Amino acid sequence: MAKELVFSGVQPTGNLHLGNYLGAIVNFVKLQDTHNCIYCVVDLHAITVWQDPAELTRNIREVTAAFIASGIDPKKHIVFNQSQVAEHAELAWVFNCVARLGWLNRMTQFKEKAGKDRENASVGLYAYPNLMAADILVYRATHVPVGEDQKQHLELSRDIAQKFNNDFSESIKVHGLGDKFFPLPEPLITGPATRVMSLRDGSKKMSKSDASDYSRINLSDDADAIAQKVRKAKTDPEPLPSEDEGLKTRPEADNLVGIYAALSGRSKPDVLREFGGGQFSGFKNSLVDLAVEKLGPIGAEMKKLSQDSAYVDEVLIDGANRARVIAGETMNHVKDIVGFIRGR
Ligand code: AMP
Ligand code: TRP
Repeated sequence: MAKELVFSGVQPTGNLHLGNYLGAIVNFVKLQDTHNCIYCVVDLHAITVWQDPAELTRNIREVTAAFIASGIDPKKHIVFNQSQVAEHAELAWVFNCVARLGWLNRMTQFKEKAGKDRENASVGLYAYPNLMAADILVYRATHVPVGEDQKQHLELSRDIAQKFNNDFSESIKVHGLGDKFFPLPEPLITGPATRVMSLRDGSKKMSKSDASDYSRINLSDDADAIAQKVRKAKTDPEPLPSEDEGLKTRPEADNLVGIYAALSGRSKPDVLREFGGGQFSGFKNSLVDLAVEKLGPIGAEMKKLSQDSAYVDEVLIDGANRARVIAGETMNHVKDIVGFIRGR
């Protein structure tokens, strides 16, 4: 059986928030103990929507700093930015020729991001999932920790891997590369909170692109900002329920209890046993203390790293050098499989 390998990516497009942390980064950190891991700052994905160049540079460093500050070890594992390893874009082109228009037409994220004016969306935004498949498969990674919103893209990656394996099955055999060249990557959508919602609207996910900064807790927020945002978070007039069941029709309450549970490593019923029947104000005070305790040190470390961009850049360059070795090997095989001519 192929060796297990973890790959995941985060876009450098703005403020990293609690959703990114609980939905993805916490799992990235945990998987380091059991797997070889590759964590990528996906700058090529970022430019599917126009980015201010200076801000993009800053954001690439900020996501890298968040990885390190959260406990990802860039020496034991690989941390790099996507554009430094050209094989991602190279394999994505091959996948553009494997994936079908009909598959991409079903992608809900494209529909959301393109909005009403679809004619004016970039071609890159449309082809985005093919590049994501290439990110994963250029390392032949087997496991991909992501939040709930990436499930459909992961399914597409599996479809692409499978179609490539089928379309080229003869050639894969001829080149002695087994019967299945690409593994079908498994999504890992687990962990404390796979879908954290906006603090202003319990029906919308917490997002980097929400116009209101009060909708999210940023990893770089200081204690005052965290306190203000939690206190202003939308709630309803009822006291907290004592049972999980009572959260069903109360999305804002459910979200805050879920955040508390995730940050404290407890279950929601357990949290409700402590806070059920009480008013939101008391619960919010406890949530502020907990969030500051857990996120404060990460924010502080990110701040420190923001003053040492030379170190952060060095991490990315070193990671890219190591990633390129693996990606280059896969790409050579792909060229042989497809029938291209290449030098040795
Ligand atoms: P992105 O910010 O879109 O690059 O997302 C980076 C990672 O965070 C992906 O694995 C997402 O699925 C995850 N993520 C983003 N927003 C949320 C959220 N509100 N709740 C849980 N996970 C999220
Ligand atoms: N599309 C992902 C997101 O928006 C980011 C991403 C790009 C990714 N390539 C990936 C995630 C590969 C996992 C694996 O969150």
